[in-house]
Amino acid sequence: MHPDTYVKSETGHISVGGVLLRDLALRFGTPLYVIDYETVVDRMRQYGQALQGWGTPYYAGKAFCCRAMVELVKQEGLGLDVVSGGELVTALSAGMDPARILFHGNVKTREEIRLGLTAGVGHFVIDSLDELRRINDMAGESEGAAVVLLRLTPGIEAHTHEFIRTGHFDSKFGFAMAEGIATQALEQALALKNIRVEGFHAHIGSQILDDEPFLANAEALMQFSHDCWERLSYWPSIIDLGGGIGVRYSGQDNPPQPGELMNRLAGLVGEWTPPGQTRPRIIMEPGRSIVAEAGFTLYRVEALKKTPGGRTYVSVDGGMGDNIRPALYDASYTCDVDGKAARTPSYAVTVAGRYCESGDILVRDAYVQDPAVDDLLIVWDTGAYGYSMASTYNRVPRPAVVAVHEGQAQVWIEREDWQDVLRLDRPLEKQRDLTI
Ligand code: LLP
Repeated sequence: MHPDTYVKSETGHISVGGVLLRDLALRFGTPLYVIDYETVVDRMRQYGQALQGWGTPYYAGKAFCCRAMVELVKQEGLGLDVVSGGELVTALSAGMDPARILFHGNVKTREEIRLGLTAGVGHFVIDSLDELRRINDMAGESEGAAVVLLRLTPGIEAHTHEFIRTGHFDSKFGFAMAEGIATQALEQALALKNIRVEGFHAHIGSQILDDEPFLANAEALMQFSHDCWERLSYWPSIIDLGGGIGVRYSGQDNPPQPGELMNRLAGLVGEWTPPGQTRPRIIMEPGRSIVAEAGFTLYRVEALKKTPGGRTYVSVDGGMGDNIRPALYDASYTCDVDGKAARTPSYAVTVAGRYCESGDILVRDAYVQDPAVDDLLIVWDTGAYGYSMASTYNRVPRPAVVAVHEGQAQVWIEREDWQDVLRLDRPLEKQRDLTI
């Protein structure tokens, strides 16, 4: 709902990380993504403690990735899950130990695999037989074995938006634990010379608010492992349960607590471990639950408008270019007006973005505090999948990302400007004269 260091003054001015949001907007401009350092670090530590003795949290970089964020991941001793060459080079440039990187994704190009092998990433998560063979061949060329996890789909329908569900059998991800598909993939992987299978992975979806789907996922993976032990004498040393733990976008959301959930998951993994075998090390890949609540976006109110139907639109200087989630997933957010936050939010408004799409609505039917032109409007909980899914639609440059901590602000990602918009463009060449 709010970062941990959120403070509201009697005048309704809000500060986070000891910095007044009004000052941030003046100094860095709007729209502006802000990250509360303390909240991120707290969530990282919660996972570190929850998994202590059982395994390791690997932050899912897709939620929000930049050099400074990876440096924090490194500082706090987490591993990192990357899904592209871009995330991988970011991690390497931030000095992340490659051994603590998991390389995910249902498509890894040759170039990306080469980069991963050369860097020495700890694990590749294998998504298809074609990828398995490709990595085997390429690892052979570099005379080493690639250490892998197999991504499995357990057939679990998590109750979350259809676009962010991944555990069902007809998902594009992984090998289904049905019709012998996952078992055959394991058999093939075990037969390959340059592949070492360390275990299994399954991720069932994102923004999941109850424990049950996670337990069902762990149970499915352990049941599968048990079968592999009985039939192939193969026992995994790693069980990667993915990410997906939800956050509080609204007061009604009641997400799982990492500590409690991990205890239950670790207990389950232990119960399924056959006598004489070592309990597999657990990996979790939280993304959203590390960074969503730490982040928020500051916008400037540019216009107000009443429609004949009685709706009041509050139009701001950002929108779907910096936060595509409402348009894509019908995601809802809460918002406040800075400087008025002490008042009762009694005005029902719809916060509209600046992009040329009717669907560019940031917050629908929200009660806010008497917004006016030039006010600063804060949309909370945008730290995950905000910047990382941002675009330059309508050729609007992307905002900066600033982190706040103990009264200081630090730029993590610079604001783009109109020069950046033009940077990759080349002028039309004169038509060549093709007549002979
Ligand atoms: N591991 C794997 C294999 C994943 O695919 C994902 C997310 C995660 C971990 C991290 O999940 P998290 O803890 O962040 O829920 N753009 C969507 C979310 C897509 C999630 C994709 N995979 C959104 O904005 O809701």
